[in-house]
Amino acid sequence: MTSTADYSEKIPNNVSLHEDRRLQRALESWQPNFLHWWQTMGPTLPTQDVYLRTAVNVGRDGWAQFGHVPMPEYRWGIFLAERDPGRRVGFGEHKGEPVWDKVPGEYRAELQRLIVIQGDTEPASVEQQRNLGATAPSLYDLRNLFQVNVEEGRHLWAMVYLLHAYFGREGREEAEELLHRNSGSVDSPRILGAFNEETPDWLSFFMFTYFTDRDGKYQLGTLKESAFDPLSRTCEFMLKEEAHHMMVGTTGVDRVVQRTVEVMREHDTDDVAALGAIPLPVIQKYLNFHYSVSLDLFGGETSTNVANYYTAGLKGRWLEDRRKDDHQLASDSIMVDTISEEGEIGQTEVSALVGLNTDLRREYIADCQGGVKRWNRILEEGGVRQRLKLPHVAFNRKVGAFAGIEATPDGEKLPAAEWQRRQGEWLPTDVDKTYVRSLMRPVHERGKIAAWIAPPRNGINGQPFDYDYVHLA
Ligand SMILES: [Fe+2]
Ligand SMILES: [Fe+2]
Repeated sequence: MTSTADYSEKIPNNVSLHEDRRLQRALESWQPNFLHWWQTMGPTLPTQDVYLRTAVNVGRDGWAQFGHVPMPEYRWGIFLAERDPGRRVGFGEHKGEPVWDKVPGEYRAELQRLIVIQGDTEPASVEQQRNLGATAPSLYDLRNLFQVNVEEGRHLWAMVYLLHAYFGREGREEAEELLHRNSGSVDSPRILGAFNEETPDWLSFFMFTYFTDRDGKYQLGTLKESAFDPLSRTCEFMLKEEAHHMMVGTTGVDRVVQRTVEVMREHDTDDVAALGAIPLPVIQKYLNFHYSVSLDLFGGETSTNVANYYTAGLKGRWLEDRRKDDHQLASDSIMVDTISEEGEIGQTEVSALVGLNTDLRREYIADCQGGVKRWNRILEEGGVRQRLKLPHVAFNRKVGAFAGIEATPDGEKLPAAEWQRRQGEWLPTDVDKTYVRSLMRPVHERGKIAAWIAPPRNGINGQPFDYDYVHLA
């Protein structure tokens, strides 16, 4: 095992793929299917080349190389973080034992399932975002979109490698299925709800990369703790790439808010729709939508499956090694959201193991607060009195304790009929979406930017904003 990628191979990798001819052949026969998927389900805007980073080394410094690359020639590869030969299982009933280089028979089905679910989200987001290039607000943004897309493609490779290398024929079949399911498809949709929603405009894209990619960060964080070492090392490296996706979301929303504030100030009005910016209430509604569907991705408040995954060592907690407890949790408890017998929104105590989804979601929510704080600072510095906020956890939920009720963003329960009547106050209406869409006119000229968004503070890899990030076809 070396940390340096071998780019002389058909499939760049740092897993010494050439030493396992069978596996290499299997992956080489999956490769054209992947490329076919990319051509038919990937970005639709024709380009000559894009200023992309490609992973060359998984080590601390210099893991990425930047250059203009025609996208279909991007070198999607297989990269695992470096192996820690002394690594031991950090939690559950195998705590303290050496980690596993192979899949233990008794956990095979569960591990395969976890990998398939993670793998399914990666190409899904590429599909969701495929038409956005046509309306990019700048070449800088266009480049970031494509960077996210190629890396989600690489994350698919990461999961497919594990399926091929460790799960035999079933794994290979699952790898095929990952290309056959499609986001929003009626016959074979993607596995998780949020990945079947469309990403029709750039405000949605920024909210998606802020809230939904951040869910990915937390899921990968739990899999990084896995006793199955190849999965752990794969996820560790994916997390490095994920950081860029979240930067795109965070700074994207920053820049939308910034521009709205500027227009509000300039014209001394809250009603910026007539002036080509996105009104704060519309930004809030988009936030409400993306946050609530992303909360659903964490599953129910309680889960015995997840308790079993933990005890077995398959999936840990966020930053497991920083937790100050016995890492087995057999006698601990946690408060989780629930609906009381009287039908009220409340909390109840359950065993910590069963409540692990809640633990992870709580970490995620705290992280999301960070974005809101930062956007509110922009509002404050701009001298605007309105503020953005995260809606209550019971708002607009389709999964878990609150799936059966309706609630306002303040957490007040609502009768279904009133929700029907009033949901447009809190979620994007057709009018809002049509307005946002009407702003989505492409700005594909170097150094120029659309009027609804502020330019970024920094370019990519030290390049200026007006760099030729993308050459269109
Ligand atoms: Fe990803
Ligand atoms: Fe991502």
